[in-house]
Amino acid sequence: MFNNRTRIKELIANESVNYEVIVMGWVRTFRNNQFIALNDGSTNNNLQVVAELGKFDESVLKRITTGAALKVSGEIIPSLGKGQKIELKAHLIEILGDSDAEKYPLQPKKHSLEFLREIAHLRFRTNTFAAIFRVRHTLAFAVHKFFNDKGFVYLHTPIITASDAEGAGEMFHVTNFDLTNPAKNEDGSINYKEDFFGKATNLTVSGQLEGELAAMALADVYTFGPTFRAENSNTARHLAEFWMIEPEMAFYDLEDNMNLAEEFIKYIIKYTLENNKDDLEFLSQRLAEEEKQKPQHERSEMGLIEKLEFVINNNFERLTYTEAIQILKESNHNKKKKFQYLIEDWGVDLQSEHERYLVEKHFKKPVILTDYPKNIKAFYMRQNEDGKTVAAMDILAPGIGEIVGGSQREERLNKLTERMNEMHISTEELDWYLDTRRFGPVPHAGFGLGFERLVQFVTGMSNIRDVIPFPRTPKSAEF
Ligand code: 4AD
Ligand code: MG
Repeated sequence: MFNNRTRIKELIANESVNYEVIVMGWVRTFRNNQFIALNDGSTNNNLQVVAELGKFDESVLKRITTGAALKVSGEIIPSLGKGQKIELKAHLIEILGDSDAEKYPLQPKKHSLEFLREIAHLRFRTNTFAAIFRVRHTLAFAVHKFFNDKGFVYLHTPIITASDAEGAGEMFHVTNFDLTNPAKNEDGSINYKEDFFGKATNLTVSGQLEGELAAMALADVYTFGPTFRAENSNTARHLAEFWMIEPEMAFYDLEDNMNLAEEFIKYIIKYTLENNKDDLEFLSQRLAEEEKQKPQHERSEMGLIEKLEFVINNNFERLTYTEAIQILKESNHNKKKKFQYLIEDWGVDLQSEHERYLVEKHFKKPVILTDYPKNIKAFYMRQNEDGKTVAAMDILAPGIGEIVGGSQREERLNKLTERMNEMHISTEELDWYLDTRRFGPVPHAGFGLGFERLVQFVTGMSNIRDVIPFPRTPKSAEF
């Protein structure tokens, strides 16, 4: 097919009239045997195609059904109807693909997000999901643009690894064994030496460790790829397969790290506001409708776009874990036992209810928490002078909770191996990682931004399953 179509988005933006075009797209609705609302995915605005009465064969008109694909050539003219400035007066209508309207699961009415999740193969065809995935694209593009403009190197870290970067043991195993009959050692344990890679392997939980290796030569690198966690969390913020952006920078301390993370988040949101205004306005309206169903006290104070503008125009609040615990402990929420997990002692891990309290109720803006207790953080984080805390930073966002996790890394070999031993992490298996601390170690830092949580934040979608095309969650890997 000689594809010489013009995108509907261009036609509508252009506004000029009296010229011939070819468009291709899918029928959203067909009214009065005359007016076709055609959508080609470039925008949620449909093009009104007018099939003049009497001009087209009944056999063609019959096949213009919801979901059918059309090629239309005609003339762009000023629209007589309300709601659009231009319309396409059809000269020729070709049916590219039929769609049985009776059986088509997407009817021209409102479907619930839950229902659409079950037909995720078709949900791209709704305005909501088309907008979400265009915004997701723009955010991903902005990620690369931000780092490229700053001279970072995009590093492809492995998907299959033999290490557990976070030391949390939440890994999916990768094996080539026949699971009913794996090679065994004499003591009955599985003999991974006989497996495909000659050792036990898993899907990566993070590209950080490999990122650090490259940062010790290229100085500024970032990864942007899929990561996998076998944590059995069936929440609106967890996926078993999610995308993460992980920059890693030599000659950076924790403060440099926070500054970069804050600048980065503001940049990509601003870029998307500038480039996907229509989609964000659509999503903002969608959210406003959804919020109307909620009781007053649960509604957000700001609209979606207002919230995004607020985030790019205000500094994130920075405080230590210790200060946050103090605030939480003294909060009315804690005193009135409104938290499911009450805050009593220093040292506990923060639950999402605590994070959201700080961000949504107390500060009402994104918060960067630093210097967490070492016992609730990963082995690679740099130990602070106090012997109790590490140079960690988490960024918490309204409506989401933790969106970024990062730290300054422990570059001192003896301190690092000491901590690994305490945490029973094999220094032998990670010997290659320790080499960076043997040969020219420098202060360095990095962070990980959960891409889907960012997309949730920007689109206002409350469930993470709705911002990735095909979500992988416990007991679900459809499509
Ligand atoms: O805090 P995490 O576990 O940090 C790391 O993986 C570090 N290696 C990052 C680094 O310093 N290079 O994960 C980072 C972010 C979280 O803040 C969250 O946004 C996201 O990844 N995340 C998830 N997103 C969706 N589903 C899950 N199961 C997630 N687990 C973490
Ligand atoms: Mg974390």
